[in-house]
Amino acid sequence: MNPIFDTARARIAALSGHFIDGAWRKGSGATIPVLDPARETAIGAIAAGGADEVDQAVRAARRAFDAPSWSAMPAAERERLLLRLADLVEENRDELAAVETIDNGMPYGVSRMMAVGSAISAIRYHAGWPRRLTGETVPMSVPGNWHGYTTHEALGVAALIVPWNAPFAITCTKVSAALAAGCTVVLKPAELAPMSGLRLAELVAQAGFPEGVVNVVTGTGVEAGAALVGHPGIDKISFTGSTATGKAILHQSVGDLKRVSLELGGKSASIVFPDADLARAIPAVAMGIFGNSGQVCAAGSRLFLHETIFDRFIEGLVAFTQKLRVGPGTEEGIALGPLISGPQRDKVMAYIEAGKAEGAALIAGGDAPSGPGYFVNPTIFVDADPSMSIVREEIFGPVLSVMKFGDGDLDDLAARANDSIYGLSAYVWTAHLGHAHAMAKKLRSGSVKINGSGMEFALPFGGFRQSGLGREHGRHGVEAFTETKSVMVGW
Ligand code: NAI
Ligand code: MG
Repeated sequence: MNPIFDTARARIAALSGHFIDGAWRKGSGATIPVLDPARETAIGAIAAGGADEVDQAVRAARRAFDAPSWSAMPAAERERLLLRLADLVEENRDELAAVETIDNGMPYGVSRMMAVGSAISAIRYHAGWPRRLTGETVPMSVPGNWHGYTTHEALGVAALIVPWNAPFAITCTKVSAALAAGCTVVLKPAELAPMSGLRLAELVAQAGFPEGVVNVVTGTGVEAGAALVGHPGIDKISFTGSTATGKAILHQSVGDLKRVSLELGGKSASIVFPDADLARAIPAVAMGIFGNSGQVCAAGSRLFLHETIFDRFIEGLVAFTQKLRVGPGTEEGIALGPLISGPQRDKVMAYIEAGKAEGAALIAGGDAPSGPGYFVNPTIFVDADPSMSIVREEIFGPVLSVMKFGDGDLDDLAARANDSIYGLSAYVWTAHLGHAHAMAKKLRSGSVKINGSGMEFALPFGGFRQSGLGREHGRHGVEAFTETKSVMVGW
């Protein structure tokens, strides 16, 4: 096995405590074990934080926000620190990827290219913003002589609450956007995959950010997470995770009207027209649902195939799927790692049973390899329909539901794709320019990707309907950590 995993295991075992005001703190002493989901063994432990640690971290972040060392830092210096952080992440790329693979389960190649690769892109992208976060000069119509303009000012202390499915990429995206806007942060990693977030704290310190600008409190959602959301010193909450938890956070934020951004669940549609390039579409549709073992908010979990290509597409899809090797992400040649936990595996298996019971036809997978490890084989159902729970609900596992469409009104097709409480992403495969633009307009989702996909940090990302509130990435994602101020000067 690659020796990088020994290095990463030693690093994981040494990471513990909360990172507050530039120093590691033990907290109450209570800990939560952290598991390797491919082996079901403990690899380390995190401190079980609560109201006390959260309060210390928020106070440290507030002091850092008010201090001239951060608030009066020139934009160019903020840019330089972010670029330095990106360089440090890149220098530690292999080890960070190995940490992510051991803690979250994703295959090493994926964590190197996608998890850590996206983290580096996100930080570098956001590093460009401190010097470009400009307001507007506004023509004034009130009587008199006026100069009117707007500025975007940092909101203050931001709580960043991160899920376990792509922990490092999501953490680095949120941290770098918040810092680019001039906020200070308290990060709460997911208790199921917290280790790369803790490692980031060390790199932040090494990069030279002032103490207290980035703080990390570990613990469960109901203890550490809820304490953070309820803390009156928090100005902004940026959350990624389940729709249920997002709603609970929004409720809890009402008391003091905290600013809230939510990136939540999805049930995204892929639509393949008969003129699509099937050689490209088949692997992309498969990896669009099976990649990261389906634990992706924007996973294309509902597939609509045109009837004339249905058989050909399904044959190619099943053949591709059967070649995907499921196993520990530390082994070579593995395409799909385990699910994050036993409960998540059980939840996914329950959906597969429900799909069978509701009358969908299982044509691939449907089973779990024998343990240890929380594995589920990539699963395809055809003859699915919108009355079924596998079509309506976010499964967050490697389960694809396939439906058919014929020639006819594009509005009807769009209505079927839009028939969901969610609206995060949509994928369209077609060579027909008119179909491409028509679907881009008709689909009710935050992103529409035609003939391919990828994470572009310059494009806003977020959901319609119950997929969330607000946008990350792009100008919107940085402005989400600011208040807009209007200034009028009479002369
Ligand atoms: P979750 O959404 O509850 O957890 C995400 C983060 O929120 C974690 O850091 C957690 O500690 C924190 N959290 C939980 N409750 C909180 C609260 N009351 N206040 C503040 N923070 C809180 O997700 P969980 O429980 O790990 O998974 C449940 C289901 O959610 C999964 O089975 C999956 O279907 C779905 N999920 C969807 C995600 C998405 O991106 N669409 C991401 C993670 C989970
Ligand atoms: Mg873990």
